[in-house]
Amino acid sequence: ATHKLLLLPGDGIGPEVMAEVKRLIGWLNAKGLASFETEDGLVGGAAYDAHGASISEADMTKAKAADAIIFGAVGGPKWDGVPYDVRPEAGLLRLRKDLGLFANLRPAVCYPALADASSLKREIVEGLDIMIVRELTGGVYFGEPKTITDLGNGQKRAIDTQVYDTYEIERIARVAFDLARKRRNKVTSMEKRNVMKSGVLWNEVVTSVHVREYKDVTLEHQLADSGGMNLVKYPKMFDVIVTDNLFGDMLSDIAAMLTGSLGMLPSASLGEVDAKTHKRRALYEPVHGSAPDIAGKGLANPIAMLTSFGMALRYSFDLGALADKLDAAIAAVLASGLRTADIKAEGSTPASTTQMGEAIIKELEKL
Ligand code: NAI
Ligand code: MG
Repeated sequence: ATHKLLLLPGDGIGPEVMAEVKRLIGWLNAKGLASFETEDGLVGGAAYDAHGASISEADMTKAKAADAIIFGAVGGPKWDGVPYDVRPEAGLLRLRKDLGLFANLRPAVCYPALADASSLKREIVEGLDIMIVRELTGGVYFGEPKTITDLGNGQKRAIDTQVYDTYEIERIARVAFDLARKRRNKVTSMEKRNVMKSGVLWNEVVTSVHVREYKDVTLEHQLADSGGMNLVKYPKMFDVIVTDNLFGDMLSDIAAMLTGSLGMLPSASLGEVDAKTHKRRALYEPVHGSAPDIAGKGLANPIAMLTSFGMALRYSFDLGALADKLDAAIAAVLASGLRTADIKAEGSTPASTTQMGEAIIKELEKL
């Protein structure tokens, strides 16, 4: 089958790292290893400059029709003054909202060659491979009421509301269990049922989805605070962690630092299975932003963008074996000592974005 991709490079280093994904897609197509059809679109500042919107309606239509969206990064000082509703980030938020991307997947993988770049000791992180599944469209970031009121006595009161319905917990739990089946078959659910009602319901619903549909997967529950402690003390005890929007935001940033540079971190955002196509809506993007400080210089590390595409291979197209090869090629290139500036050893000469992308394909040729 031919897979349809919408490529949204965006701003800053977005187009530079996307060029390496295009190189990889070209190679996969030429070798007959997969069949991808790509279309380019504009998002963020690039879309604002062209159409005065952070994403055009035409590109939104393409996004809905695509089998997956590969997204670079948006933003930069050039667009600091643009109106709030057309600021670069609005394009990404619109995509998440209109495509219903409720599940944010953030893997934390520590390549052995980079274990010394971690905030932790080599033996704690070497070979680490965990997946944090964060609920992205509910919880305290969106719950109502959400207000600041003047109490009139020199005091103000701020209210944020944590709201979760059964269906929201069920669908994120299913994403986590499905992922675990393709990995090491273990899910750790994190909440604070000792002090939060939403934690009680979260625990109950995850347990009941497990009992009804995923008995073959190991399920464990941890309180989010001591779970956070375990994440930095014994990170290798985890396979898949599933948690709410707020805890997931914090835990995934902490996990990111276990593995080293921002230039290495991919992510996926998944939506519901489409009733017509039976496919899951999905957007894949690096965790990093548009890095205006290094944009246009050919210095960006393309690995986060390439491994984000690797997640698309794995989770949208059932091409896990190709994704494994991509990971092996990246590990081999890093082990050979070739590094972009963000991960290079002191005193060594950094590779450019293009050199890194080319070296990874050369390694793939050998596998
Ligand atoms: P950033 O992630 O763009 O950069 C932070 C630091 O990491 C910079 O020193 C940058 O050079 C470095 N860095 C990031 N990615 C790299 C890569 N692939 N290779 C080598 N070095 C890399 O975050 P920052 O500076 O806070 O934001 C810059 C712009 O990006 C802002 O306009 C921000 O709003 C936007 N942004 C966009 C995101 C997105 O599109 N999803 C996410 C985060 C920020
Ligand atoms: Mg964050």
